[in-house]
Amino acid sequence: MAIAELDEFVNKVRERSDIYAVVSRYIALNFKGGRYWACCPFHNEKTASFTISPDKGMFYCFGCHQGGNVFKFISLMENISYFDAIKLQAERLGIALPSRKKTPAELKLEQERKSLLNIMTLTQEFYHNSLVKTVAGEKCRKYLAARGITSGVIDKFKLGYAPDSWDALTKTLRSRGFDDKQLLATGVAHDKQSGAGVYDRMRDRMIIPIADINGNVVGFGGRILNEGEPKYLNTPETAIFIKGKLLFGLDKATRAINAENCAVVVEGYMDAISLASAGIENVVATLGTAFSAEHAKLLMRYTRRIILCYDSDEAGQRATMRALPIIQNAGAEVFVVAVPDGKDPDEFVRKHGKAAFENLLKNALPFVDYKIQYILARADVLSTSGRSKALRSLLPILSEINDAVLQIDYCRKIAAALVLNESAVLDEWRKFSKSNSSGKTIKKPTVRDDDIIQRSGSAIIKKAWHDGDVLSYVLATLPKEIFIEVHREILNYFEKCREMEKHPSDISAAEELSAEANAELSRILTGEVNDSDELISMAYENSIKALRRIVLKAQYEKARRETEEYLKSGDEAAMRVAFQKSLEIQKELNKLMIK
Ligand code: CTP
Ligand code: MN
Repeated sequence: MAIAELDEFVNKVRERSDIYAVVSRYIALNFKGGRYWACCPFHNEKTASFTISPDKGMFYCFGCHQGGNVFKFISLMENISYFDAIKLQAERLGIALPSRKKTPAELKLEQERKSLLNIMTLTQEFYHNSLVKTVAGEKCRKYLAARGITSGVIDKFKLGYAPDSWDALTKTLRSRGFDDKQLLATGVAHDKQSGAGVYDRMRDRMIIPIADINGNVVGFGGRILNEGEPKYLNTPETAIFIKGKLLFGLDKATRAINAENCAVVVEGYMDAISLASAGIENVVATLGTAFSAEHAKLLMRYTRRIILCYDSDEAGQRATMRALPIIQNAGAEVFVVAVPDGKDPDEFVRKHGKAAFENLLKNALPFVDYKIQYILARADVLSTSGRSKALRSLLPILSEINDAVLQIDYCRKIAAALVLNESAVLDEWRKFSKSNSSGKTIKKPTVRDDDIIQRSGSAIIKKAWHDGDVLSYVLATLPKEIFIEVHREILNYFEKCREMEKHPSDISAAEELSAEANAELSRILTGEVNDSDELISMAYENSIKALRRIVLKAQYEKARRETEEYLKSGDEAAMRVAFQKSLEIQKELNKLMIK
């Protein structure tokens, strides 16, 4: 679609979107002190610091500083891109997407994808039939029964059996009109190593279909029925099977994940299947690959609480440690269940039942506790160097805890576990946190001027949003460098709008500004409740003055220093010039002080 058409579409959706209606779809808003408040959906809090401005169509959280327009809100809530949020909102409002002719190349790609998916569906039916309806499937039925998998679960996951044949599937698919090239592209068939032709990839294995989020089968896992190697044979990565973006079982688990507001991640297909048969359905499994940021994003469309429940062996625990920062950085809350008895969740739930597993979930460890436990369990407590090594790796984890009392508490626990003197551990901790926080204060000096610059910048931006004419005056009076970086970015954007003779809008702001600047703009615009034009103008004028003063103070200080230096070096003429200059600056400063 053409750019103008797209703009028109976006504007139309924006105009018909009421931020109050959109936000209250997700969270409850309370009217208090002249505006709407809610507990922020983007971070954990007990008192409401999330607010909206219905007339400006923006939201802002004073706690976590997320902010933006209605589309930004949807994109954050749904964990989708900004543009997808526009499309979703359009869909909800029943506004049709401007249609666009697909290019021949796109049509071809779409067609190809369709036929690949078609092959996968037919293949799934073939395997499933061969499990439930054929004599050959008997041994696999027995295998599943021995593992406690009921026919209900076989049906739900459409489990199957690949017969012990080189070409049973290949023949069936060929008879449906598919050619070898397509069979290879889906991975259901292998290239023959010698000579032409293809043969079935899976033979004599239990088949676990893997679907994407929409329930399309895109791959298979095939488990050997006896002991043997490889235990699993999987569909190789294809155009439709991308392991880093898929989670086994997610298509069937979304409702339960929503209901429980929590997703359990396990390592094995069989863990997910076994838990589902025990009635625990908010479970997904990775496909034998590491947990990725993409996986986290996928889950966060449904919940922000993720519980890792990997195998209890060393490999599983190491994989847990690796997954923790990935999930955390994605912004989810992450907990860990260490399966106490048995090697994996499947074994545990079959031995102890649903209630016992639910109890494990209820007592899942917050990630900090888990990390501490992990390091303590592996520390070489018997050697001095082992103990101090463990302590060194524990101190940075302690600083991830945002509660001083808890931190002390942990120091005690750590001391006990490492057989160290309690006060020695506390001392180490104090030293560590001091050296860390002093590093931070060097980077960010808290001068009062900083505060003035921040607040004045906000007031000026607010005025300039309503009245673009002030912009040229602001920029003529003040050097741009005085503003903090995000404010500078917003002012640059205002300038650009003026050049293009357009009023700034939440839509163009969302497109032009960085997420940080966009949130800051929302903060400024949703700021005060009762700000009349008069108040906005007053704040603006005072802010210009305040900033002028800061600029002049710096200039005065410079001139004063120069005067001193020339005095010392005996250059009297230069000294006089510098002195004169400082007097003039002083005069100007005085003028600003009087009012
Ligand atoms: N896996 C794989 N290929 C292998 C072994 C494992 O792709 N040769 C992947 C599978 O996705 C498997 C997961 O790693 O589900 C975890 O392995 P494991 O714990 O051995 O499998 P389970 O699903 O628990 O299988 P089972 O209980 O039947 O042993
Ligand atoms: Mn297992």
